[in-house]
Amino acid sequence: MRDRGPIAAGLVFFLALVTFPFWYNAAVGATGTPPELPRPEGEVNCVAPTDYMRMAHMDLLIDWREQVVRTGARSYVAFDGRTHIVSLTNTCLGCHAGQAEFCDKCHDYAGVKPPCQDCHLDPKALQRSVR
Ligand code: HEC
Ligand code: HEC
Ligand code: HEC
Repeated sequence: MRDRGPIAAGLVFFLALVTFPFWYNAAVGATGTPPELPRPEGEVNCVAPTDYMRMAHMDLLIDWREQVVRTGARSYVAFDGRTHIVSLTNTCLGCHAGQAEFCDKCHDYAGVKPPCQDCHLDPKALQRSVR
């Protein structure tokens, strides 16, 4: 059996390949567990149903931006009849724990990096850094 060497080498290579996702994740420290997101205290509803927000908050934010920039109108009547001020900083981050604590916890897990914070600051984080 002169083929033993190449077969063993091929086997090792194959095993390395099929187990790649496991040791790669271990090496970069990623886990398969989604992050625990803080829930706003005393609040039941988001500005749209949770399932919709989970899937499409980016679309809603873009609609909000277009509404403000194009028409100047700054109120938004939510699905539950509540009226919110159209503001990423004051409304979204005002109710949720904060950009780092809420938004980016999920974005880091999902591997997305929205560029909004270059201009839209998180007031709670700023207050903390001043203190
Ligand atoms: C280059 C700077 C800049 C970046 C980057 C930026 N914005 Fe804005 N955005 C603005 C400015 C300026 C306004 C107008 C502010 C106003 O009139 O209140 C605005 C308004 C908005 C508004 C409506 C008003 C408000 O205060 O929230 C939303 C929503 C919004 N942007 C969402 C986003 C999102 C989502 C992203 C990332 C995908 C983003 N923006 C990235 C500058 C920026
Ligand atoms: C008045 C408080 C409030 C405001 C304002 C608000 N949210 Fe929410 N948000 C909530 C609550 C409550 C939930 C539901 C949590 C649940 O069902 O466990 C939620 C859920 C979410 C989720 C899904 C989280 C998950 O666990 O999957 C996302 C994403 C989200 N909000 C983004 C936003 C964005 C973006 C804005 C601004 C456009 C916003 N929220 C404004 C209270 C708010
Ligand atoms: C439950 C997880 C989760 C939470 C919480 C969450 N996001 Fe996201 N967000 C995502 C995912 C996943 C994407 C990428 C979706 C895609 O590419 O189709 C995304 C994309 C975005 C985008 C579009 C970025 C782009 O480049 O297209 C914006 C803007 C955004 N999120 C803003 C926010 C803000 C602001 C908050 C906090 C108020 C927030 N998100 C909270 C999961 C989340």
